[in-house]
Amino acid sequence: MALPSPVPITLFGATSPSGQALIELARGRPLVVAGRRPPLPPAWGGDPQPFLPCDLEQAGETGEAPLGMLISFAPIWTFAPWLARWAARDPAGVTALRGVIACSSSSVITKRFAANGFDRDLVQRLRQAEEQLTLTCAAQALPLRILAPTLIYGQSGRLGDRNLSRLRQLLRRLPILPLPGQGGLRQPIHCRQLAAVTLHLADQLAQEGFDPSQPVHLPLGGDDTLTYATMLRRLQEATDPGDRARRCRLLALPPRLFLSLASPLLLLSPKRFEAVQRMGADLARFTPAHRILGVPPEPFPVLPLAP
Ligand SMILES: NC(=O)c1ccc[n+]([C@@H]2O[C@H](COP(=O)([O-])OP(=O)(O)OC[C@H]3O[C@@H](n4cnc5c(N)ncnc54)[C@H](OP(=O)(O)O)[C@@H]3O)[C@@H](O)[C@H]2O)c1
Repeated sequence: MALPSPVPITLFGATSPSGQALIELARGRPLVVAGRRPPLPPAWGGDPQPFLPCDLEQAGETGEAPLGMLISFAPIWTFAPWLARWAARDPAGVTALRGVIACSSSSVITKRFAANGFDRDLVQRLRQAEEQLTLTCAAQALPLRILAPTLIYGQSGRLGDRNLSRLRQLLRRLPILPLPGQGGLRQPIHCRQLAAVTLHLADQLAQEGFDPSQPVHLPLGGDDTLTYATMLRRLQEATDPGDRARRCRLLALPPRLFLSLASPLLLLSPKRFEAVQRMGADLARFTPAHRILGVPPEPFPVLPLAP
């Protein structure tokens, strides 16, 4: 029996590491890049993907209607209102899609009781966008998955993350890095794992169609759950033998002492102080990527890492 041909993809957020990884994994299947900037030339050579110019923050129409499975690694608070506007203008165009997969963030869960205004606003924006997207898709009977990944790291093609790579830079600069004990739990996900899960769900949604009994929201993490200190140690071990990041000593302080030393930050930036406080919080226990993909777990860190 012939396998069904893969669903065509329209991809927003192609210029993120996860977008680059998805383009690479989807090599050979129909894929259009939508966004503000034309796609980068593929790292493996050849022509860039077809391009659909579209700024999600502009009210204007795109030249052609997006097709197939709509995947977005763009900020969900720009993607959700854009899809709602398009659905109001052209309901038939939206109904012709095979489904939608959009990236939100696990911050919608982990920062919901934040004390600082910046994080509270972020949670509000994420939650409103998730609700708007769910309503738009339900009204068009469009299959939808909202992925809420935790910390995304890694390099794909020319693009790398700006979180663990910054921590690695810090390890290179400092001789000692104090930590609140071993710190809380983390479950970082490599951009290639996120892209693989997205592609897998795209094919699943295209086959199964609209099923309101399926959960829409999927909190997602990598395959390893480890303490903050272990995450840093593994990052050090993954650097080249002569790399200065290896020399930084991780100093586990009693958590109360650590927070007392960090307390002046509270006056300067409550948001940063809360970020330091969160080093001790468990931001983990999300669905691991390997469970969705049905493959063996991959230990942290998955390579390649951003320099
Ligand atoms: N980084 C993390 O640790 C993390 C954690 C949890 C969730 N997330 C979510 O995961 C996704 C990817 O995150 P990231 O940090 O890897 O992304 P990123 O590097 O910040 O890239 C964002 C992407 O969205 C596109 N975009 C932004 N505004 C747009 C607009 N108005 N119209 C069209 N495209 C637009 C950007 O395109 P341009 O090239 O035009 O700028 C870029 O391709 C995002 O949805 C983010 O909220 C990230």
